Amino acid sequence: MTRNLMILMAAATLSAPVMASEPKVPINLPAPKEGQYVHQAPTIDDLMADESIKPQLREVILKGYDMFMNTQQYRGKYVFNDMSCKTCHMGEGRMNGSGPVWPAVTTLPDFRGKNKHVNSVEERIAGCFAYSMNGTPPAYGSDDMLAMVAYHQWLAKGAEVYETNIAGRGFRHLGNKIPDDVSYDKGQAVYEANCAICHGDDGAGQKKDGQVVFPPLWGDGAYNWGAGMTRIFTAASFIKNNMPLSKPGSLTDNEAWNVAWYINSQERPQDPRYTGDARDTREQFIGFHKHTRYGTEVNGKVLGQHNNTGEKPFLKPANLKPRTFE
Ligand code: HEC
Ligand code: HEC
Repeated sequence: MTRNLMILMAAATLSAPVMASEPKVPINLPAPKEGQYVHQAPTIDDLMADESIKPQLREVILKGYDMFMNTQQYRGKYVFNDMSCKTCHMGEGRMNGSGPVWPAVTTLPDFRGKNKHVNSVEERIAGCFAYSMNGTPPAYGSDDMLAMVAYHQWLAKGAEVYETNIAGRGFRHLGNKIPDDVSYDKGQAVYEANCAICHGDDGAGQKKDGQVVFPPLWGDGAYNWGAGMTRIFTAASFIKNNMPLSKPGSLTDNEAWNVAWYINSQERPQDPRYTGDARDTREQFIGFHKHTRYGTEVNGKVLGQHNNTGEKPFLKPANLKPRTFE
C-alpha cells in the first residue's frame, strides 16, 4: 500500500481537516547519501507473482505480514498497548526513512550494545515486542515467530548480507546530538499546533469502535520506557520523516527535536529492565538512557519512578534473558 493510500484510509475514518492542507507544504525528506547501499524491499504483490516461492512458504510469509500489519489481533497475548508493528515501521515495514525492518535479517546475528550479546533475528523481533509493544514476544521457534521472521526475510529478498551502510535504515538521520535550545514549552506548542488533532490533547490517541485509529504517544497505551522511540534522537528523526501523517518532512528539524523532547517527557509504562528505582535503572543502562529522559526530573517528578506497567500484568517477559557463549 502506498503512503498516500494509508493517509487516505486513516483520514477517512475521522473527519479531521487534514487532507485540505496536504499539497501546500514543502516535503523535505532525506535522500540516500553517496556510497550508501540502497535496497527496495519487495511488496506483497511481488510475493503473489513470484512463482519460485513455494505455496506453503507464501502462506507463512502472508501470516507474518498479517501479524505485522494488525498486531492488535494479539492484544492481551503478545501486545498490551495500542501499537501494531506497522504503527512505527510505516509502509508495511518496507519504507526507507521509516525504520525498514529487513536489515535485521541481513545484519544479524550480531552483537548489540542494548543487551550486550550476540542477537538473533528472533531476539531482535522479540525486543520490539517487549519494549515498543509493551508486550511479551511469541516463543522462539514457535509458528508465530517463524511467520514473523519469514515476512522480514521476504522483505530482504536480494539484499546484500552483512552490509551495514544502509540508506534510510532506522530513525537516526538527524544525528544523536540534541540541540542545546530544546525545551518542553516549545515542544508543547509544536504538539498542540500539529499533533493533538490526531494524537489527542492528552497524548492517548483515538479509537473508533474499539479499533485504534490514531495511536497514543504517551500513557498506558504507548510504547514503554525501554522502547527505542523514547530516545529523543530516534523520535525526532521518526517525526521529521513521517509526521504529521499527511505532511511528512514539513516540520523544521528544530520543531521535530522540540516535539520529540516534549512527548518523551511524558509518563508511559515501565521499562522491563526496571530495578525498582528509575535513577538506578537509568545508570545501569546509561548507554541507552543517556538519550532518554527516563530517571530524570521533569516538572518536579522523576520520570519512570512508578510500578505502572500499563495494561501489561507483569514486568519482564521471560524470554528476554541474556545469552553468553562462555
Ligand atoms: C513504538 C514504535 C515501534 C513499534 C510499535 C515497533 N517498533 Fe520495531 N523498531 C522501533 C525502533 C525505534 C527501532 C530502532 C531503529 C533505530 O535504531 O533507529 C526498531 C527496530 C526494529 C528492527 C530492526 C531494524 C534494523 O534496522 O535492524 C526490527 C526487525 C523491528 N523493529 C521489528 C519490529 C516488529 C516485528 C514490531 C512489531 C512486533 C515492531 N518492530 C514494532 C520502533 C518500533
Ligand atoms: C493526521 C493525523 C496525524 C497527525 C496530525 C500526526 N500523527 Fe503521528 N501518527 C498518526 C498515525 C495514523 C500513526 C500510525 C501510522 C500507521 O499506523 O501507519 C502515527 C504514528 C506516530 C508515532 C509512532 C507511533 C506512536 O504512537 O508512538 C509518533 C511518535 C507520532 N505519530 C508522532 C506525531 C507527532 C509528534 C505529530 C505532530 C508533529 C504527529 N504524530 C502528527 C497520525 C497522525
